[in-house]
Amino acid sequence: MSYEQAKSLLEKYGQTQLLKYYDELNDSQKQSLLKQISEIDFGLLDLVKDGETASEKGVITPLDDAVSIQDIEKNKEKYTAIGVDAIKQGKVAALLLAGGMGTRLGSDKPKGMYNIGETKDVYIFEMLIRNLLDVVNQTGAWVPLYIMTSEKNNDDTVNFFKEKNYFGYDPDYVDFFVQEMAPAATFDGKIYLEEKDRVSTSPNGNGGWFISFVKAGLCEKAKAKGVEYINIFAVDNVCQRMADPCFVGAMIDGGYRSASKVVSKAEPEEKVGVLCLEDGKPSIVEYYELTEDMRYETRDNGELAYKYGVILNYLFTIEDLEKNLENNLVVHIVKKKIPYVDENGNAVKPESENGYKFETLVLDMIHMMDNCLAYEVVREKEFAPIKNKTGVDSVDTAKALLKQNGVEL
Ligand code: UTP
Repeated sequence: MSYEQAKSLLEKYGQTQLLKYYDELNDSQKQSLLKQISEIDFGLLDLVKDGETASEKGVITPLDDAVSIQDIEKNKEKYTAIGVDAIKQGKVAALLLAGGMGTRLGSDKPKGMYNIGETKDVYIFEMLIRNLLDVVNQTGAWVPLYIMTSEKNNDDTVNFFKEKNYFGYDPDYVDFFVQEMAPAATFDGKIYLEEKDRVSTSPNGNGGWFISFVKAGLCEKAKAKGVEYINIFAVDNVCQRMADPCFVGAMIDGGYRSASKVVSKAEPEEKVGVLCLEDGKPSIVEYYELTEDMRYETRDNGELAYKYGVILNYLFTIEDLEKNLENNLVVHIVKKKIPYVDENGNAVKPESENGYKFETLVLDMIHMMDNCLAYEVVREKEFAPIKNKTGVDSVDTAKALLKQNGVEL
């Protein structure tokens, strides 16, 4: 794209501020900036004017059924046998979402490189691989592992895995792919410059995983290997059990088209998304989308009607994901602190939120599926998210839970 083309494109969208420092740049910086401008999805900026559509939910009702911890205990052998068989046949893959910025943790390295060890090194990535290796040992089969990064953390992540010999995982079963980026803008919808020659962008949310997975050629590769089910999981839950044979078996046995690990809410006010039905189809509502009445609504047995919180561990079929590839996910507009170059050319690191990022979320994919099994797990065994350094959902709380589960740190 030439300077003239970029200028007229930016004029059309009212974004000429991106060329403010153009004359100060050297030739390669100029080329780089023009290329970035040519790649911007300007359509996203309309959302700032129009507002996101996420709040336009359909009719929310409680789930009809779920597999409770007691049900799982009763059927454990049957489900596990079915899951082990599917894994042995190579039908199950795991996919780690590791493209996030982890801003709340405040480390400038990928979150998975965070060391939670006390007497020795124990990295978040290492804990996740250990958990997956349990399945490899149980089934005698390697589970293909796909790792999504972003252009901000890909090199660090790939190099770290190489340096640590994949923590004992077989590298032939590991593929990395990079998710796409979205621009970051002021509250008025003006895209920020992160540096004089860099448009401010950030990863486009974890809902972008399937499109990026397809674009990287990995969906075809997975299908060629016979993969039918993909277990998506987050980087931050160090107690995460992925490609869990019992979970996989329960979904297959029930003939479900998707499944989600869930935990019983600790209290009605707990700030987690809950699995429910929306217009009769599975869906996840955020805690703030539940009305006061819904939050406290109970069933005949006294249990909360909206009881099951999601923990970012989902099973999808490749078949259904491909069917829905053309269906756009809702884009969420999220307020964030966005570093930028001000009108005097100074780099600014804001103390408070100063603009919007645009993200799609994997949880919105659940609503595209015909049904979703809610599979309840014991919170104290499987849910230790690391979002913050201290306090709620932090390094401290995760360490305490790992120790409680017999992990040496
Ligand atoms: P979070 O919602 O916790 O976001 O991601 P984050 O970016 O990691 O952390 P904060 O909000 O900046 O502190 C949940 C999961 O989704 C992944 C994250 O890596 C994590 O596993 N994710 C998030 C992506 O893979 N890509 C994204 O664009 C966003």
